[in-house]
Amino acid sequence: MRSIRILWTRLRRLAPIGQIFLVLVYFVAIVYFIVLYASPHGVIRMNRNENLDLHTNQTRNKSSRSTSTEHQFNDTIAKKLKEKVRLLVWVMTTPTNLNTKAKAVKETWGPRCNKLLFFSSEENSSFPVIGLNVSEGRAHLTAKSSQAWMYIYKNHFNDADWFMKADDDTYVIVENLRYFLSDKNSSEPHYFGHTFIYYNFTYYSGGSGYVMSKESLRKINEDGYAKKLCDEDGSFEDYRMSKCMKVVGVRTVNTVDDHGRNRFNCLSMQSHLNGTYPPWYYKYDINGAKKGKDSISNYAISFHYAKPEMMYILDFVLYNLQVYGINQH
Ligand SMILES: *[C@@H]1O[C@H](CO)[C@@H](O)[C@H](O)[C@H]1NC(C)=O
Ligand SMILES: *[C@@H]1O[C@H](CO)[C@@H](O)[C@H](O)[C@H]1NC(C)=O
Ligand SMILES: *[C@@H]1O[C@H](CO)[C@@H](O)[C@H](O)[C@H]1NC(C)=O
Ligand SMILES: *[C@@H]1O[C@H](CO)[C@@H](O)[C@H](O)[C@H]1NC(C)=O
Ligand SMILES: *[C@@H]1O[C@H](CO)[C@@H](O)[C@H](O)[C@H]1NC(C)=O
Ligand SMILES: *[C@@H]1O[C@H](CO)[C@@H](O)[C@H](O)[C@H]1NC(C)=O
Ligand SMILES: *[C@@H]1O[C@H](CO)[C@@H](O)[C@H](O)[C@H]1NC(C)=O
Ligand SMILES: *[C@@H]1O[C@H](CO)[C@@H](O)[C@H](O)[C@H]1NC(C)=O
Repeated sequence: MRSIRILWTRLRRLAPIGQIFLVLVYFVAIVYFIVLYASPHGVIRMNRNENLDLHTNQTRNKSSRSTSTEHQFNDTIAKKLKEKVRLLVWVMTTPTNLNTKAKAVKETWGPRCNKLLFFSSEENSSFPVIGLNVSEGRAHLTAKSSQAWMYIYKNHFNDADWFMKADDDTYVIVENLRYFLSDKNSSEPHYFGHTFIYYNFTYYSGGSGYVMSKESLRKINEDGYAKKLCDEDGSFEDYRMSKCMKVVGVRTVNTVDDHGRNRFNCLSMQSHLNGTYPPWYYKYDINGAKKGKDSISNYAISFHYAKPEMMYILDFVLYNLQVYGINQH
């Protein structure tokens, strides 16, 4: 305001011709600056220093600032393991979960498996999801599971060495699962998951997913289902599955890592981090329901109760986000 007043006093002191001339000079100057700033090239011309970070046009030297392609994670080892440890995962879903939970699996961790199958009570050939001859509901989870294992044995036995069942709200870090399996022999009868204990019987939680060797898949089919020695329907699918495994001579083991930390996590990541556990978990968990960061393996394989939103977040954090200056891997 003060400078305008000074300008005005100066103008009034000048002769009329001088007044007009000065107004013209100001006008031309204002127009010049407007034109200069309106054009991106004008700004570049004004800023001789090419490295100046301008919001309007980033002209930084590309090799001095990494672009997304330069600092991608190096997945050479994971790619090699994908050939060596062939993994088939089947996801148990329902018609109502197809376009939400199952879709999130299909769009995040699912495609990292060598083979991914979805099973439900209704077929959908465009998803695609395989329809089984079962009724929906917790009381029939075993029917879904037994029919899925029979279907896989019949149609996909040679497509993989390891076979996993996951829920549509299980998040699986596929590379860590292959890493865990890489020193194990798929021709031997064994299987892995989060170990629970119920009346002195150990079994694997269904929610964190369980994975069996090719030999175990053969055994439950030829020695179990074919001989009618395994339950083919009912609730507590995970418990019945381990009963079936025991009948055919496949035992559960403790799958925690060398530091006693969980690889397969049967509750949500948030629950395990904060220790917000349901009362039953203290009775069922074979390792004393430990809580917090130090109870989860650095190479954790799975987490249960991952809502679709969480699946996309986990996927982005694990496979895209990088922390500058820290070599995470
Ligand atoms: C930034 O300026 C350069 C050089 O003038 C030009 O080639 C480029 O297209 C501009 N980029 C954007 C995003 O405006
Ligand atoms: C970018 O930086 C690299 C390495 O510092 C240098 O060799 C190159 O000439 C620079 N390119 C430009 C366009 O300034
Ligand atoms: C990626 O990792 C492999 C195995 O550790 C290594 O041999 C290779 O040089 C790495 N590639 C790059 C571009 O860093
Ligand atoms: C079948 O799958 C397609 C593709 O995902 C989906 O758009 C459609 O809604 C599904 N149909 C039913 C009945 O769920
Ligand atoms: C479906 O299951 C019912 C009851 O278990 C059985 O009677 C029927 O034959 C089955 N249908 C097919 C196509 O397998
Ligand atoms: C894997 O197990 C099978 C069956 O016990 C055995 O014949 C084979 O030699 C084993 N392979 C390795 C690499 O140990
Ligand atoms: C577990 O087994 C032990 C020893 O065999 C027995 O004393 C105990 O009662 C069993 N507990 C349950 C809950 O069955
Ligand atoms: C963490 O656990 C405590 C105690 O169980 C509970 O009160 C709190 O709400 C939990 N916080 C979060 C963020 O889950």
